[in-house]
Amino acid sequence: MEAIKDHLGRTFKTLRISLINTCNLACTYCSYSNEENHKNDSTNKGAGLTPTELMNLVIKLHERLNFSTVRFTGGEPLLYKELPALIKGTRALGITDLNLTTNGLLLHKKVPALKAAGLTAINVSLDATDPMTFFMMARRHGLEQTLKGIDAALNAGIAVKINSVIMKGLNHMQVIPLLKYAADKQIIIRFLEIMAMGHLHGKADEYFFPQKEILELISKQYRFAPIRRKPGATSNYWQTEEGNIFGIIANESHPFCTDCDRLRLDAYGNIYGCLSSNSPIPLRDLEAAALDSSLRKALAQKQSTKFTGSKLSMLHIGG
Ligand code: GTP
Ligand code: 5AD
Repeated sequence: MEAIKDHLGRTFKTLRISLINTCNLACTYCSYSNEENHKNDSTNKGAGLTPTELMNLVIKLHERLNFSTVRFTGGEPLLYKELPALIKGTRALGITDLNLTTNGLLLHKKVPALKAAGLTAINVSLDATDPMTFFMMARRHGLEQTLKGIDAALNAGIAVKINSVIMKGLNHMQVIPLLKYAADKQIIIRFLEIMAMGHLHGKADEYFFPQKEILELISKQYRFAPIRRKPGATSNYWQTEEGNIFGIIANESHPFCTDCDRLRLDAYGNIYGCLSSNSPIPLRDLEAAALDSSLRKALAQKQSTKFTGSKLSMLHIGG
């Protein structure tokens, strides 16, 4: 079957599945600050896919796209009870690159089941190593539990990376402590520029702490050199003289749309070709013959230059 490509030669090679649009943290950059706003979010309506419907959609998409990588996200994907079964089902299709992006709060309990199901790697969101700053960012306590989760995953031999969203005035002073924590654990950390999603749409500027300033902070304590970026990757990477690797996901200042290969599926069975698309493309109950046309529509949503912001919440589309 002919690959579905756009004018930049982009195809879909990675499927990101947002399993659930609720979370057990309420991070300032991601979540609504109160229930009322959350209820008013138009993307937060109706019944989600059943686990069987979801698996059937993954099978359909895999048959057409033959993607090699799946990433499970949310909301918080560890709140989705059927995750280990879904990982097993996805693995049975021959997909071996099976990843999870989580806040890590439930990780210490879930690692054995995730490992047994065949999960290969986990990105854990961690925005501070200091409990007060953690609470300010997440609006919930949970630092100790998250750190316990990271240790559990590492002890089980699952690869872990850290994602730290850096917000000016809130946690930018945590860059060095986070870097030190990751170096101590010998894991890769990526610092993320804030993205204008959901409630931050049009309001992210005041918190924006760019790649340039993150590098300046790090250069006060470390010497480092860049590593070549892999095609399609979200992050730029550097290695310190001590051998520790860190990255920056610089959506705003160093965009990476031109070789994006990601397709997103939400918990309601809609696909999106881009994080900045506000237009869900429904696949639920779709006739098989209409799949290609929906995938072409999704590909056409991809930006050619940079992420332009979205009213859709990250909680819904899953990062
Ligand atoms: P790795 O494969 O481990 O590099 O993971 P990843 O960076 O692709 O996924 P992760 O879920 O850890 O996402 C990290 C950050 O990258 C999040 O802030 C995402 O919103 C952002 N990101 C992921 N995919 C895209 C994308 O297609 N476009 C844009 N603009 N940002 C993205
Ligand atoms: N800007 C940047 N990153 C964000 N994330 C969630 N919301 C935002 C935002 N507004 C991050 C999470 C997670 C990843 C999927 O996206 O911290 O690590």
